[in-house]
Amino acid sequence: MSTMNITNEIIAAFIDDLYYNENEQLQELRDFAETNHVPIILKDTEGLLATIMKLKRPEQVLEIGTAIGYSASFFVDCCGCSVTTIESDPDAYESAVNNIEAMGFADKITLLEGDAVDVLKQLQTKETGCFDIVFIDAAKSHYREFWDLSLPLCKEDALIICDNVLMKGMTASDSFDTRGRYKTSIRRMREFIAYINGLDYADTIVLPVGDGVSMSMIHKDEQN
Ligand SMILES: C[S@@+](CC[C@H](N)C(=O)[O-])C[C@H]1O[C@@H](n2cnc3c(N)ncnc32)[C@H](O)[C@@H]1O
Repeated sequence: MSTMNITNEIIAAFIDDLYYNENEQLQELRDFAETNHVPIILKDTEGLLATIMKLKRPEQVLEIGTAIGYSASFFVDCCGCSVTTIESDPDAYESAVNNIEAMGFADKITLLEGDAVDVLKQLQTKETGCFDIVFIDAAKSHYREFWDLSLPLCKEDALIICDNVLMKGMTASDSFDTRGRYKTSIRRMREFIAYINGLDYADTIVLPVGDGVSMSMIHKDEQN
């Protein structure tokens, strides 16, 4: 078997047609990202996140992996929340600053440049327990570290959402890693999924949407 999209293409196209983001600037930014192969959230993932945002109505969102600022802007546009977002690539960071400014969301989005592991450690000292939603969408082999460092920053009943957890099917089966190039990241993602699935203080579901999305409801009072 070769690497694949985890969703049936016909069904994904049908679902994508049902969801439309009415913000023209966001549409343009999505078009730019798709044309230039910038990896932003897939459209069906965005549709799912739009519903979650409206249900949860977060005041504060923490995002790990800004890229050019698409999903951070989408979160603000969706529910008026404030977003703190972390990006390690200087060019992507610069683009995000410009895009967020152009979108008129600079007062709602705090952009932090640097490796998320370092930035999250710095945030521990000032932001403890303030985020309603954490969205993890950066280097897949570091998800466990991102999770552990984000947890103290979460509110009591936060939601932690991780994108790309099915890795084009490879998390489910080695057969999708045809050249054996992703062995380490596959192993680490499987360990991560097993880890979050086994936690007493988190209720986790993995959904076959986009490239695989995990959602974990946190109950900090049940944390040992
Ligand atoms: C999939 S993209 C993020 C897309 C963005 N969330 C969106 O949907 O618009 C992943 C981004 O994470 C960044 N990244 C990867 N590892 C990182 C790390 N350790 N710390 C901070 N950012 C990281 C990459 O440079 C890349 O821009």
